[in-house]
Amino acid sequence: MAGLGKVSVVGAGNIGGTLAQRLAEEDLAEELMLLDIVEGLPQGKALDIQESAPVVGFSTRVRGSTDLKDVAGSDLVVLTAGLARKPGMSRSDLLGKNAQIVQGHAEAIRDHAPHAVVVVVTNPVDVMAYWVRKVTGFPRARVLAESGTLDSARFRWFVADALGLAPRDVVGFTLGTHGDTMVPILSHCSVNGVPVSRLLSPEKLAAIVERTKKGGGEIVDLLKTGSAYYAPAAAQAEMVSAVARNEHRLLSCSVLLEGEYGYRDLFLSVPVTVGRAGVEKIHEVTLTPEERAALDLSARAVSEDLRLLSALPPH
Ligand code: 2OP
Repeated sequence: MAGLGKVSVVGAGNIGGTLAQRLAEEDLAEELMLLDIVEGLPQGKALDIQESAPVVGFSTRVRGSTDLKDVAGSDLVVLTAGLARKPGMSRSDLLGKNAQIVQGHAEAIRDHAPHAVVVVVTNPVDVMAYWVRKVTGFPRARVLAESGTLDSARFRWFVADALGLAPRDVVGFTLGTHGDTMVPILSHCSVNGVPVSRLLSPEKLAAIVERTKKGGGEIVDLLKTGSAYYAPAAAQAEMVSAVARNEHRLLSCSVLLEGEYGYRDLFLSVPVTVGRAGVEKIHEVTLTPEERAALDLSARAVSEDLRLLSALPPH
């Protein structure tokens, strides 16, 4: 049964297309709108996904459009459009170009879907989410960004793989920015309640933390022509589902902090409850002194990117 009336996915590239397929197959909305500036691309992908409906069995009506005004009436919009990293690039290298792209999209959402929850995916995601909130003027509950959900998935997989255990039994999350200073939180990571520190050596855990931090880059280096999209789309679908089905999930998402964890006026991934209204609650969990120091470094990295954003010429 459909959870929302209309969901729009802006950007029909690898992430947008894969996400649209997931959302349709999960029947999360009555209508799914896929948008892109490349004529034919969103319409073609939308029709292709739609034609799988009789086989897969979903009811979602999937449409494609190149007109941003077609976000109109969306209950939720996922912003994926923008440039992706190539080998040797950091997510911050995308800042100037993607800020311009995101600005137009944020304005369209503000004007045509003023009640939507917005899930930001475009990189550098914590900065782009800040920009989206600024341009839309939406309450902070309605702008959240994927970073913790994806990074946590990678973290959990690496733990599961090291132990040879079912991935879904590994519980854990990363905090901070979606960049090399992200903070995989070992102190709250467990296998169905058994702390990982009892199951893996400190050396193995340290290697998992390092691999998680560079998880996106590992895929970029392998693909060479772009960045990851299967795990990102799965993580985004998890967030959309939490909203669409009002699941009250506890997820690590990037949200605007207004004093929580001691930070103000920046987006950072922290544990939040996600439901129909977007971010329902921000949870402040206890961290070890090392994790706390690492989170400070992460916040500093985002602040530096925000400084670069504010120094950009007006669009
Ligand atoms: C990643 O980490 C796309 O930034 C994304 O793969």
